[in-house]
Amino acid sequence: MDHSQAQQRHQDLCRELHHHSYQYHTLDQPEITDAQYDALMRELLQLEETWPELISPESPSQRVGAPPLDSFTPHTHSEPMLSLGNITNIEELVEFDQRIKNTLHEAGEIDYVCEMKLDGVAVELVYEKGTLALGSTRGDGITGEVITENLKTIPTIPLVLHPPFPDHLEVRGEVYMDVEEFQQMNRTREENGEAVFANPRNATAGSLRQLDSRETAKRPLKIFIYGIWDSSRTEARTHDTMLAEFQKLGLRTNTAGTWVARGVQGVQKVYEDLLAEREALPFEIDGMVIKVNSLALQAELGQVSRRPRWATAYKFPPRQAVTRLENIDCQVGRTGAITPVAHLEPVEVSGVMVSRASLHNWDEIARLDVRIGDRVVVERAGDVIPDVVKVVTEDRTGEEKPFPMPEQCPACGSPVAKLDEEVVPRCQGLSCPAQLKEGLKHFCSRNGMDIEGLGDRFLDQLLQLGRLNSVADLYRLTEEDLFQMERM
Ligand code: IVH
Repeated sequence: MDHSQAQQRHQDLCRELHHHSYQYHTLDQPEITDAQYDALMRELLQLEETWPELISPESPSQRVGAPPLDSFTPHTHSEPMLSLGNITNIEELVEFDQRIKNTLHEAGEIDYVCEMKLDGVAVELVYEKGTLALGSTRGDGITGEVITENLKTIPTIPLVLHPPFPDHLEVRGEVYMDVEEFQQMNRTREENGEAVFANPRNATAGSLRQLDSRETAKRPLKIFIYGIWDSSRTEARTHDTMLAEFQKLGLRTNTAGTWVARGVQGVQKVYEDLLAEREALPFEIDGMVIKVNSLALQAELGQVSRRPRWATAYKFPPRQAVTRLENIDCQVGRTGAITPVAHLEPVEVSGVMVSRASLHNWDEIARLDVRIGDRVVVERAGDVIPDVVKVVTEDRTGEEKPFPMPEQCPACGSPVAKLDEEVVPRCQGLSCPAQLKEGLKHFCSRNGMDIEGLGDRFLDQLLQLGRLNSVADLYRLTEEDLFQMERM
């Protein structure tokens, strides 16, 4: 292959990989298998190894991250990134709508766009001649930080736009994490003795703040684009058609979470439907954003003290409740990691009965100064089991008992030790039944050997029969062993 052939092949591979990544990540409609995609990527990487001069910043190979930075460079937004005012009930919605009508001297109903208010991190993307040139955080709204390398690792952020594209485009959106992927990431971190994130938003913020973008590349981040800084740069006349334009450019918008609604009544209906749908969503939202749909009216309304007059956040009630922490016990994981779990007096939190809460580790117990018997605020924030977020110290009677880190493993009695660089203490026992059981569960699980039928209860029975002392024993089980089991 000569240089010009290599160049041609490189161009084709980049185009194909961009296309298939878009089909898979943004549209959820893959056209080829993962293996076929990987083969194309391998070919690209080989080609770039032989011809390094072909590597361009927008090559799909650049998504894996770049060498770490020493610090982040500040970036002053060409137009401030505004924040939103907020409302929490229909009376305030009526006031918001009335203020808009008054300012516009409008008697008729206003058309609004209602969007899910994603609970993530706001970013700005700048495309020059169709190529992602700069990405930054919001910062204080005036000046943020350049995090281009980190943003390039997010598969739903296109490195190149679909033509025809404007010469210069600045869009804004929210980077977030799906709850399930967030939980998976936290489980892995817990097992590795790393600090867990309190919620998907903190995890997203932490992931974007990495100086080493190769670390960001490992985090399950996604983006939804929701706006533009200067509406004169779009041909669109309304916010919803502008979103459709973004989509044509290959940008990911939250189509399924966007509704056009007329007047207060229309908006209130969307809000109530969304509130009911909230629990079923794959990601966290903390409310709805209401925007005047007409871009001309948005411009006419303008802004006051860094908040647009044409938009507001319609917040959801927090998913919190107050209850008594009855006890704390320790769970032992497969690597011996010991995690404290709070047992609560059962309480309803936005429709779900809650009786256990996560305390994560003893740093967290110390930070909250939580004690057995305390009245605590629990919050469901994306985790399967809720978090204790605060102690109601005013309600203390003096009877509350601190819960120190155990010196012995609650399952086997072996000594417990905590390494300086870890946040979790670990059982030092070599034949701890809790570690064995968790290890077996992990081995048989879907992400492990995927042994069908070997679930929690079956393993418990086999352990009770004394037939399992190691993972290898699974392969030494005989027919006779199995016939001793219930319903076998
Ligand atoms: S519009 C001037 N739309 O909420 C308009 N913001 O204070 C400003 N957010 O951190 C933002 N989902 O990142 C808009 N669909 C959405 C949003 C959204 C989440 C965030 C935004 C900012 C905060 C607003």
